[in-house]
Amino acid sequence: MASVGLFRLPPAGLTQRQAPVGSVAHPLPLIIDSDPGLDDALAIACAVVRPEIKLLAVTSVGGNADVHHCTENALRLLHLYGADDVPVAEGAVGPLVGPLERATEIHGESGMGSTQLPKASRRAEPEGAVALMARILESSPEPVAIAPIGPLTNIALLIRSFPHLAPKISHICLMGGSVGEGNSSASAEFNIYADPTAAEIVFSSGLPITMIGLDVTHHAILDRSILERFAQLPGRSAKAAAELLKFSFDRSAAWGQGEKMAIHDAVAVLHLAIPDLVGVSRYHVVVDATSGPARGRTIGDANPYRLKRDKREPNCDVGLTIDSDRFADEMVAIFAKLP
Ligand code: BDR
Ligand code: CA
Repeated sequence: MASVGLFRLPPAGLTQRQAPVGSVAHPLPLIIDSDPGLDDALAIACAVVRPEIKLLAVTSVGGNADVHHCTENALRLLHLYGADDVPVAEGAVGPLVGPLERATEIHGESGMGSTQLPKASRRAEPEGAVALMARILESSPEPVAIAPIGPLTNIALLIRSFPHLAPKISHICLMGGSVGEGNSSASAEFNIYADPTAAEIVFSSGLPITMIGLDVTHHAILDRSILERFAQLPGRSAKAAAELLKFSFDRSAAWGQGEKMAIHDAVAVLHLAIPDLVGVSRYHVVVDATSGPARGRTIGDANPYRLKRDKREPNCDVGLTIDSDRFADEMVAIFAKLP
């Protein structure tokens, strides 16, 4: 068999993005599937505020916290942001296989750190997350993008239960994975680690995917200095966000990791609103769903020699670069516009 020899090929260069971008004239219809979650809270704010996005629903999934907390958090966050008209529905309690591994040590038992958000005056839609997504896709006059920013359980169930709706999904722009190091383990990022079986279904679905993984989100960092900028903002949403961030900075400092936080999930949403914030490259990504030490790893291959040799086509864009300063500025601008 031919070999690439004793040299390393250069890392993948940036390529033209595949994900659609909304515009003010034509906002991108979007469903967010989320496990709020501190960074999910900021991501949902991005979708509410940015005029390039038309947020059609937020569906919840068990992940950072138990799903009933995640659902309640989604309702309360939308209420805080003045977006009570966006439907919320509850999804899977845990992964397709095995127990739920939460991230409450990072996000707190409720998912919202130690912050008590004001109660919303409504409940989640009784039909549930997958049925709500299917109904929206079915009735939408144009294809709808999905931003999964938690474990991919609901999305895998949607793909398996309603295969005829695949053409109605314009793009899956997910936060998850890494072609480099993981965070839940050295191999795996949390959202993929939490349900590798579901991730495998999504990555092998043939749907257009952008993987906003740790490779890029570890450069979407806010540090304690942002609190001064949030303190200048008048709204209740900015105050709540500052509290959520402070919880994370304190925790990160206590773990000896500095007073900073990667706002992973917001990057997936902003990629759909801002054309040139994130740089991507085409990769062939497969998921390790075995129970070995690489469980939950997303193995990304952009090596043209190997792809050709093995007759594999790239199946997704992978986020690699971000303008970090602009990202921080965008977060402040977004909370400046919220009540
Ligand atoms: C992802 O894991 C969760 O804890 C965050 O909300 C984010 O979606 C980062 O690995
Ligand atoms: Ca999340």
